[in-house]
Amino acid sequence: MMIGAVQLGLLAACVVLFVPMGMAGWHLSRNKMLFFSCALFITLAVGVHLMPYFPSIPSFLSPSDVIPPPATIYSDACVSFLHSVVYRECSDSIDEDSHESGCKSWDWIRSDQVKECEFQKLKNSDASDLLNGSWVVVAGDSQARLIVVSLLELVMGSEYIDSIRGDLFKRHSDYSVIVNKIGMKLDFVWAPYVGNLTKFVSSLKQNNFPDVLVMGAALWDMLHVNNATEYRNSLRVLRNNLLPFLPVSSNSDGGNGGGGVSEFKSARSLHLFWIGMPTLITSMLNTAEKREKMSEAMCSFYDDELYRSKLLRQSGGPLLKLDIRLLSDLCGPHCTADGMHYNAAVYDAAVHIILNALLIESNQKPH
Ligand SMILES: *[C@@H]1O[C@H](CO)[C@@H](O)[C@H](O)[C@H]1NC(C)=O
Ligand SMILES: *[C@@H]1O[C@H](CO)[C@@H](O)[C@H](O)[C@H]1NC(C)=O
Ligand SMILES: *[C@@H]1O[C@H](CO)[C@@H](O)[C@H](O)[C@H]1NC(C)=O
Repeated sequence: MMIGAVQLGLLAACVVLFVPMGMAGWHLSRNKMLFFSCALFITLAVGVHLMPYFPSIPSFLSPSDVIPPPATIYSDACVSFLHSVVYRECSDSIDEDSHESGCKSWDWIRSDQVKECEFQKLKNSDASDLLNGSWVVVAGDSQARLIVVSLLELVMGSEYIDSIRGDLFKRHSDYSVIVNKIGMKLDFVWAPYVGNLTKFVSSLKQNNFPDVLVMGAALWDMLHVNNATEYRNSLRVLRNNLLPFLPVSSNSDGGNGGGGVSEFKSARSLHLFWIGMPTLITSMLNTAEKREKMSEAMCSFYDDELYRSKLLRQSGGPLLKLDIRLLSDLCGPHCTADGMHYNAAVYDAAVHIILNALLIESNQKPH
């Protein structure tokens, strides 16, 4: 916006200078020329000052907005295919246990477009290389905790998970682990409300920001506050608290910002993810209060407000959404016992979506 105004100012100056000179060539008198010059100057000055109030105009005029079309700023079309997954029954489902828990495996679909992206299910060693020396924070509710489980399982193996399960699943507590082997620090921050996330983000220092920050909160809010408008307001506050950390954070009010997309152009140097809500299967929820308040309609309201809050990249914000709703819906009702927490396959897919997004963003593979 600022650049656009400066360029327009220069253009205006040229017009003011050269149009009257051109007209002088048409044998206008000196006085008439002066009159034209003033009239033009005033018109353009008024125009330039009014322009910021007409957001559609600068997007046509300002080259900085035109060169990278918003849709391609972040991707890498491949980012939009990251969620193109399919689930299958585990091949070893003869096993009674795994059959009972509805054991599923997942993979990316095999369409040509998706194949071109060369997504990969990272093996332990690849994930270790990728996360070597980094600080990963996952903050949120039980959905976030399940993502931590999948991530640790990938990096450390399932025996390790079994050994820490007690600590990790202590109700409503934080968990922190340093994986010595690869110097990775992983923090789980128990943050069931967006306000808790905001508190965490505002406690971070500019020079000490996680390399990867994955967060999300909605379910507790829906159950205990049950007001989508207030949810959006809390998301706005979170967004405003994230702004100082973003490389391009000038002139944003978190409100009616028209330049939302370009504002976060450089956000990809920070790796920020939002854990979307799962698909809630109302009839399976385990209390009457949940069945009443966590309806499909309310989920849609909450999702709409999430979009409107401009927190997500899809709406010009800094966070890439992990569409748990889609992933859990694809897995289906057999993948959940309580209509809310799903099988490991869902969160495992989410973890691989994070890792492949990191690969894309750090240009570590051709695409
Ligand atoms: C992690 O990186 C360090 C150097 O940055 C290297 O010495 C070490 O071998 C790496 N570890 C793994 C598991 O990749
Ligand atoms: C999260 O926020 C809620 C509501 O503001 C508050 O009651 C709770 O103590 C907070 N929890 C944590 C862990 O900060
Ligand atoms: C939701 O919250 C907003 C803002 O605080 C308030 O104006 C509105 O009345 C609330 N809606 C309901 C249904 O309570």
